[in-house]
Amino acid sequence: MLNINNLSKSFNTGTENEINVFEKFNIHINKGECTGILGANGCGKSTLFNIISGVLAADNGDIVLNGKNINNLRENERAQFIGRVYQDPSRGVSPSLTILENISLSDKKCQKYTLKNLINKKNIDSYRESLKSLDLGLEDKLNTEVKYLSGGQRQSLSLLMATFNKPELLLLDEHTAALDPKTSRLIMEKTQELIKNHSITTMMISHNIKDVIKYSDRIIMLDKGKVMLDVKNGEITEKELIDIFNTKNYDSYMDEAV
Ligand SMILES: Nc1ncnc2c1ncn2[C@@H]1O[C@H](COP(=O)(O)OP(=O)(O)OP(=O)(O)O)[C@@H](O)[C@H]1O
Ligand SMILES: [Mg+2]
Repeated sequence: MLNINNLSKSFNTGTENEINVFEKFNIHINKGECTGILGANGCGKSTLFNIISGVLAADNGDIVLNGKNINNLRENERAQFIGRVYQDPSRGVSPSLTILENISLSDKKCQKYTLKNLINKKNIDSYRESLKSLDLGLEDKLNTEVKYLSGGQRQSLSLLMATFNKPELLLLDEHTAALDPKTSRLIMEKTQELIKNHSITTMMISHNIKDVIKYSDRIIMLDKGKVMLDVKNGEITEKELIDIFNTKNYDSYMDEAV
């Protein structure tokens, strides 16, 4: 489904501040699965998403999605088939536009439009239905500017928008980290419902080990730009994951697992 081959990326190359985030990194993501991605701060998780989504160019390597090399596609071209939700609830939405305008924008991602023809009145009922599925009453606030919504409401909208056109790949970058525990739970349940209902291949970065275990089909741990642990869900307990995260003792786990 998604193949990343021989990826290399460094920042501040050739200076004393050079950081080699990835060197000949490879990963294969399976179709229809939710792959949870764990790893310490700074290990390269968001950089990986930035490279997949075209925000950053790789120094070397290939990004192949469904058999198509997407290296040369720009971020906005990739956005037609890659959805992304960020940690910051204001990043996935346009705060000064209304809920209706935001959702129309995500619907029009694949088409040409002007601000004048942004909203197609014929679609409003179906937008209302989609919003209703969030259970937040947003369907009654279509003309409210998104800046007046709470973080949880914005993040729910952002999730709905990222999945609106059933992307080939969904990238979730700590998308519940800024939310209170109850809202975070609600968004995770909604995430699971959306990705399972539409079989959306998903990569989910999270520091919440419980969520990763509960919602992922496969769990990957990155360390210093390398895949150090790659297990199917059910092959590892929460305690083992926490121990490995804290001790970085991957080898002994892999030996035990064999
Ligand atoms: N645009 C950039 N310019 C320079 N350095 C960068 C840039 N983006 C990321 N880095 C560096 O690359 C490394 C990996 O950063 P990245 O944001 O991918 O980490 P992360 O695994 O997502 O961490 P976190 O869990 O804190 O979000 C860090 O050392 C970071 O400082
Ligand atoms: Mg990050």
